[in-house]
Amino acid sequence: MKKKDVVDSILKKKSFSIPLLFASVFSPSNIALCKYWGKSNEELNIPQNSSLSVSLGSLGSTVTIKKSEEEHDQVIFNRKILLKDDAFVVRLCEFLNLFRPSPDFFFHVETASNIPLAAGLASSAAGFSALVLALDKFFAWQLDAKDLSILARLGSGSACRSLWQGFVDWQKGEDSNGMDCYGKPFSIIWQEFRVGVLLISDKSKSISSRLAMKKTLLSPVYPEWLEKAEKDYKRIKEAVLKQNFIELGEVAESNALAMHSLLQTVSPPIVYSLHETLLAQKQVVALRNSGTNIYFTQDAGANLKLLFLSESEEVIKNYFPQIIIAKPFECF
Ligand code: PMV
Repeated sequence: MKKKDVVDSILKKKSFSIPLLFASVFSPSNIALCKYWGKSNEELNIPQNSSLSVSLGSLGSTVTIKKSEEEHDQVIFNRKILLKDDAFVVRLCEFLNLFRPSPDFFFHVETASNIPLAAGLASSAAGFSALVLALDKFFAWQLDAKDLSILARLGSGSACRSLWQGFVDWQKGEDSNGMDCYGKPFSIIWQEFRVGVLLISDKSKSISSRLAMKKTLLSPVYPEWLEKAEKDYKRIKEAVLKQNFIELGEVAESNALAMHSLLQTVSPPIVYSLHETLLAQKQVVALRNSGTNIYFTQDAGANLKLLFLSESEEVIKNYFPQIIIAKPFECF
């Protein structure tokens, strides 16, 4: 199946007749505690391994769509009109091609993100999730959460987890067309849970996660990653259900380190960390050794996300004054 076939099969009974004047939706960013790394189907973003994330509360993207008055799509990011050949615009327009009611229908898309784009902070996840939810509202499809999550996954894999706040499970599924591969929220509410974003660089990552994943599949130790990812996924799921913070933190940190070690086995090695990233990792470990329950995780970028509970918030703010703290359960 191609992306368009999946979209058509989901939208088969839906009409595009009279869209609203506009639709605007917010989606949170999400941070994987057990990472998705590697695709079994590149076209459909079907992952090789299951993953589990936590969403970042009020940190994320708001997408507003309406019909464009121009003969082409218009994309505005944080109030700036982007050029047609901008990589982000090209990717977005390709995705919008899947949803045009007619070939001469163009979209005006405004994205406002309160997190730096392409800095390994999963902003594309929030963006594609909000875009799909906005399309659903705009055309009044009223799709269920499962179908919306599948559509978001076609834009960016991890976007299928950004439809919800809190912890979200994304099982790799078994269907080769990915119809059983979508996000599912946990009912756990953990008010004390915190994620701190430690911004080390706001520059775009050195290599896209899409390309890095593709290269990593060729690593001789990729099968070992899959084995570990499967075990970590089960342990983190259990830790979330039991609200066992130490277990969750230990496994999440070791999972992120394993993903970055795997990246170094690619030839030439893929290194997202900067010198400052490694220093910050050491600081986290030192703080932990001095008695604060704190762990880090790192995605495809130089920044770190720190995991801790509200009881450690003041100590951590003193230690890392630049930290941006997300409260994943503040809206529950
Ligand atoms: O969904 P993508 O293509 O942006 O890839 C996300 C990859 C990681 O952020 C590193 C891991 C994850 O599960 O979110």
